[in-house]
Amino acid sequence: MTTELGLPSLRGGASRDPARPADPRLVDGFGRVATDLRISLTDRCNLRCTYCMPAEGLDWMPREEQLTDAELNRLIALAVRDLGIEELRFTGGEPLLRKGLEEIFSAASALEPRPDISLTTNGIGLARRAGALAASGVNRLNVSMDTLRPERFAQITRRDRLSDVIDGMAAAHAAGLSPVKINAVLLRGVNDDEAADLLEFALTHGYQLRFIEQMPLDAQHGWRRTEMITAEEILARLEERFVLTPSDEDRGGAPAERFVVDGGPATVGVIASVTRPFCGACDRTRLTADGQVRTCLFATGETDLRAMLRGGATDAEIADVWRDAMWGKKAGHGIDDPGFLQPARPMSAIGG
Ligand code: 5AD
Ligand code: SF4
Repeated sequence: MTTELGLPSLRGGASRDPARPADPRLVDGFGRVATDLRISLTDRCNLRCTYCMPAEGLDWMPREEQLTDAELNRLIALAVRDLGIEELRFTGGEPLLRKGLEEIFSAASALEPRPDISLTTNGIGLARRAGALAASGVNRLNVSMDTLRPERFAQITRRDRLSDVIDGMAAAHAAGLSPVKINAVLLRGVNDDEAADLLEFALTHGYQLRFIEQMPLDAQHGWRRTEMITAEEILARLEERFVLTPSDEDRGGAPAERFVVDGGPATVGVIASVTRPFCGACDRTRLTADGQVRTCLFATGETDLRAMLRGGATDAEIADVWRDAMWGKKAGHGIDDPGFLQPARPMSAIGG
């Protein structure tokens, strides 16, 4: 394992890049500060979305390589206390597959200052668990749903579970985990005619819909730039039925460009990671289920915090290595550059 800078991972003593300012937060060389920590709780999933995983044959991360709850709680606590992390977003794979996750959220919600806690889930099993999630301190949920048609859902995710997802959203909404956000990916020739229907559904139920441009993060390396449905196309499809006006709300580090629908108050978001990258405003740092810090979804290097945890490093040493990793964060993901290389890990093992 090497760091972003191509240096061997640090297993114990902290180093400090002399150019890095003495700021306790996660600052990088481009003036950005990471305050949003995305944590992948597991690389496992109970769906097999075609743009994410192959039908079969993807090896799971060995259990012993995954952080234990105690290791994870320690990293979360030091990130909030020592590194200025304000938001925790838990992802997978499918995060609800991790046992004991409510305890992880409870521990996180007891931290000072109390971080904002959200979860990105595919919604399977959510109907049963929404109440417990809300009680454990989760503030908001993003549910992935790309289609309203059961047969298409089965085609995209390779599992016939659409009604579970719809029930899950309703339960989350009822449990006060609102606004429920829906993430949708449109695929050419599969569900690209459903943009307006999805928005209609979201408006009817009081959910907030966001479309995400498909990114080159699938395990099978099947992404093609020319096949991707662009933000421009998504907006054109929506405008066939709705009047959209760009929202003048400050976007901050949020990836979604928001549009007011039919005069408001409802909005729809488009996350144009590929055609309108927002790397300049990025405020994220990422932690994989096996304890590797990634500076970006598309980073090709990682920094091994698990080895430090298991090698007896102190919190201060770990925090400093995390700061060094972020200091080396690149300006952008370069998906549109000719030399772009897809990261070795698929999205399911990084956390979306
Ligand atoms: N491109 C865009 N979005 C993706 N997601 C998973 N894989 C991709 C991809 N290759 C989405 C999921 C989920 C979120 C975590 O990211 O649908 O909503
Ligand atoms: Fe599972 Fe999410 Fe990947 Fe679909 S996109 S297979 S729900 S991790």
